[in-house]
Amino acid sequence: MNQNRIRSFSSFSIFLVIPLSGIILLLIIIPWKDSERLLQSYLYSAPSWRPSSTSSNAATSSSSSHQPSIFHSSPSLPVEEMKRRSEYYKHAPVADAKLQKAKGVLARARALIREAVMNPNHTSKLHDPDYVPHGDIYRNAYAFHRSYLLMESHFKIFVYKEGEPPIFHNGVCKDIYSMEGFFINFMELDTRFRTQEPSEAHVYFLPFSVVMILEHLFDPIIRDKAVLQRVLVDYIHVISHKYPYWNRSLGTDHFMLSCHDWGPRATWYVPQLYFNSIRVLCNANTSEHFNPRKDASFPEINLRTGEIPDLTISSNFKTERPILAFFAGGPHGRIRPALFHHWKEKDESLLVYETLPEGLSYSEMMRKSKFCLCPSGHEVASPRIPEAIYADCVPVLISEHYVLPFSDVLDWDSFSVRISVKDIPDLKKILTGIREKEYVRMQANVRQVKRHFAVNNPPKRFDVFSMIIHSVWLRRLNLRIGVI
Ligand SMILES: *[C@@H]1O[C@H](CO)[C@@H](O)[C@H](O)[C@H]1NC(C)=O
Ligand SMILES: *[C@@H]1O[C@H](CO)[C@@H](O)[C@H](O)[C@H]1NC(C)=O
Ligand SMILES: *[C@@H]1O[C@H](CO)[C@@H](O)[C@H](O)[C@H]1NC(C)=O
Repeated sequence: MNQNRIRSFSSFSIFLVIPLSGIILLLIIIPWKDSERLLQSYLYSAPSWRPSSTSSNAATSSSSSHQPSIFHSSPSLPVEEMKRRSEYYKHAPVADAKLQKAKGVLARARALIREAVMNPNHTSKLHDPDYVPHGDIYRNAYAFHRSYLLMESHFKIFVYKEGEPPIFHNGVCKDIYSMEGFFINFMELDTRFRTQEPSEAHVYFLPFSVVMILEHLFDPIIRDKAVLQRVLVDYIHVISHKYPYWNRSLGTDHFMLSCHDWGPRATWYVPQLYFNSIRVLCNANTSEHFNPRKDASFPEINLRTGEIPDLTISSNFKTERPILAFFAGGPHGRIRPALFHHWKEKDESLLVYETLPEGLSYSEMMRKSKFCLCPSGHEVASPRIPEAIYADCVPVLISEHYVLPFSDVLDWDSFSVRISVKDIPDLKKILTGIREKEYVRMQANVRQVKRHFAVNNPPKRFDVFSMIIHSVWLRRLNLRIGVI
C-alpha cells in the first residue's frame, strides 16, 4: 500500500517536474519578448511538427527568419518535454502526414523532370490529345511537356477564402491590367488545380488585387500609398494567425499576382512576401528586385474592351508585309524618347509614330508589318509584345532589366529580336540584315507560340493561364528546365 503510494508519487513527480521546469524556463525568457508570438512559434518549431526545411524552396531569407533559435539550441529542455509540448498541437500528426505526402509528390515530379532535362533529345513523345510541344521555340520541349503533364495530374493550389470583394477574390478584366483580374477570377472558378483542402495543397494563393486596392482605397489627391501597406500587412497577419501554412514555410510556398506597376511595391511591406514568396508580376524589373529564381514574369495583355481576342481569325499570316517595322505610342519612360529621337517619322519603311495618323488602324498596321517594335514604357513590360504575337508580327524587344514571360520554358530568341538601347540608331540596319529565310522561321515560331499567350474563357490547356500556373509550379519545385 505504502510502497504503491510512494511509487505513484515518484512517477507523478517526474511528470510534474519535467513540465514545470519547462514552464519556469519559459517564464524566465518570455518577458524579454512578445510572449504570445514566442510561445506560438515555439510550438510550431517543435520537431514533430516543423517541416524538415524550407530548403526545397526557391529562396529563404535569413534576415526575416522567425525561427526562435533560442529555444532550439537550449540544452535545458529535455526531449520528453519537447515531445509532450508538440502534442499541444493536436492535429499535428495528421497535418504532418499530409505535408509529407505533398512533399513526396513534389520530390517525385522533380526527379522525373530532371531526368527529362538531362535527355533533351529524347525521341519518344509523350502522349497528348491536344498538343505536343516541339520545335525550337522551347528551351527543352520534352522536359516542358513532362513537367506540364505532371503539373496537370498533381499540382494543387489552395486559395485563401479570407477577404471580401471587391478588393479580394475579384479584379478588373479590362484595359492594361486585365490579366490581374482574369487570373484572380479564373482562380476563383478553377476546378483543375484548386483544392478546398489546405493541408494537401502545394502552394497557397493570396487572392488580393493591387488594382482593386488602389481603385477603392487610394485617394488620388492625398496619394497615400500606405493603403497598400495597411491591406497587405493586415492580410498576411490574418492568414498567418489563422492557418499554420505561412509560418511553416515563411511564405515560400505562397504566391501573389499583380499586373499593376505598383505590384512589386505592394509586396515590399511584408518582407517575407517580398523576399520569400513567389510573386507573379507583369512589372518584372530586375532592378527592382524581381528575382527570376522565385518570381515569375507575366505578360501584360491589354484587353481594351474586356473582349477576348479571337486569335484564330487573325491569320492572314502569309499576306504581304510591306512595312519593315512599326511602332505607335507615347514617349513614356527612358527608352521611347531615344527611339523617337532617331526614328520618329523619319523613315518610309520603319514607321515610328507618337500618335497614329488619322485613318490608320493600329492592329492593321501590325498585321502589315514584318517587325513590331516593343520598347518599354513607364514599366518594363509592354502589352505590345503579346499584341505583336497575335498579329503574327515578329516582336522587336527593346528593354532593360526585363525578364521576359515564360522565359524559363520559351526560347525568346527563336521568335523575337532583341535590341539593346545603345543599338537603337542601327535599328534599320539590324532588321534589314535579317535574312528572309531566318525571318520566315521566326514568324512561323511566332505563330506557334501564340497558343501560350492566348486568353481563353474558360482557360484551356497550354494557354496563358495554364502557362502562368506552370511558372508557379516550376518555382515551387525550384527547377529550371531550360538549363542543364
Ligand atoms: C541533342 O541533339 C543536338 C542536335 O542534334 C546535339 O547537338 C546535342 O549535342 C544533343 N544533345 C545531347 C545531350 O545529346
Ligand atoms: C505565426 O507566427 C506569428 C509571428 O511569429 C505568430 O504571431 C502567429 O501566431 C503564428 N501563427 C500561428 C497559426 O501560430
Ligand atoms: C526598372 O527599375 C529601375 C530601378 O528602380 C528604374 O530606374 C527603371 O526605370 C525601371 N525600368 C523601367 C522600364 O521602368
